[in-house]
Amino acid sequence: MNAIEIKNLHKTYPGGVKALKGVDLTVPKGDFFALLGANGAGKTTIIGILTSLVTKTHGHVEVFGHNIDHDFEAAKRCVGVVPQEFNFSMFEKVQDIVVNQAGYFGVDYTTALREAEIILKRVGLWEKRNAMARTLSGGMKRRLMIARGLIHHPSVLILDEPTAGVDVELRHDMWAYLREINRQGTTILLTTHYLEEVEQMCRNCAIIKEGQIVCHDSVRKLLTRLPQDTYRVTVKEMLSLGEVCSFNPVQVDEHTLDIEIKKREDLNDLLLKLAKTGFVITDLHPKGNRLEKLFLEILKAND
Ligand SMILES: Nc1ncnc2c1ncn2[C@@H]1O[C@H](COP(=O)(O)OP(=O)(O)O)[C@@H](O)[C@H]1O
Ligand SMILES: [Mg+2]
Repeated sequence: MNAIEIKNLHKTYPGGVKALKGVDLTVPKGDFFALLGANGAGKTTIIGILTSLVTKTHGHVEVFGHNIDHDFEAAKRCVGVVPQEFNFSMFEKVQDIVVNQAGYFGVDYTTALREAEIILKRVGLWEKRNAMARTLSGGMKRRLMIARGLIHHPSVLILDEPTAGVDVELRHDMWAYLREINRQGTTILLTTHYLEEVEQMCRNCAIIKEGQIVCHDSVRKLLTRLPQDTYRVTVKEMLSLGEVCSFNPVQVDEHTLDIEIKKREDLNDLLLKLAKTGFVITDLHPKGNRLEKLFLEILKAND
C-alpha cells in the first residue's frame, strides 16, 4: 500500500488560476519524499488538498488507502501537517498547544497529557512546556509545530518548506530529527527549495512545474543521470601532476584541484593515480550541488 496516491489531480482556484493540471504522484509507505518546485508551482495546493484545507476541482486522492472523498475522516487521521508559517496562538502555553491539538482528534485529556509529555521531551521542549509560545526562539517554534503535527501519531507527516529561512545549524538539527522520525516508521513528505536537503535526506522526489509533475524518480537514479561530476580535491602538498594530467585537473590554489569525472566508476582510477603520483589527499567532495544542475536542466527541458 502507498502512503499517498494522487491521480489526475486538478485544481482551478476561483478567478481561474489553474494551480494543478493533472498531477500524478505516488509516495510509498515509509518513504522520505521531496516535492520540489519553484514558487507558485503548486506544492502548497497539493498539501492543502491532502490536508483538506483546499477542495480539489477533480482527481483521485488516497491516503493509506483511504479515499479523501469517501473516507475523509480516516484519511485525515493518517496525516500530520506542519505548515510553512507558524499558525499557533502566540499567547498559548506550549503544552496546551499540543494537548488541544490532540483534542481535535478525539484523544481524551489524560492520554493527551501523557502523549504531550513524550513528544515534547522528544523535540526538546519539555522544559518549556509552561512557557508562552511567543517567548520561544525560532527553532523552538519550528519544533513545536512538528510536535503538534505528530501528537496524534500520524502515519505520514507532511511539511511545507520546513527549512525555508532557517539558519544552517537549525536546518541540520531538523534534518536529524526528521530522519529519526522516518526511521521509526513515519512516512515523510516535504516540499523544499533546498536541493542539498533532498540529496542528503530523501529517497524519492518529484519536481512540479506550473501545476504538472515533470519528474518523478528516486534521488539515486536522478543523480546517475548526471553525465559527470566535478570533485574538489584538497591535497597536503601540490606536486607536479604526473599521471593525474589525464583527468585535466584545474588547479584552484596551492592545495586544491577541481577534477571532472566522466563516470562515477572512474573515481577509483583517479584515487589510484593521485596516490601513485605521491599526492596526500586530505579532503575530497563533489563540488557544488549535483541535483541543482539536474533540476535546472529538467525545468529547462520542460519549458
Ligand atoms: N487561494 C488562492 N486563490 C487563488 N490562487 C491561488 C490561491 N492559492 C494559490 N494560488 C495560486 O496557485 C498557484 C500555485 O500556488 P501554490 O500551490 O501556493 O504554489 P507553491 O506552494 O508551489 O509556491 C499560484 O499561481 C498561486 O498564485
Ligand atoms: Mg508553497
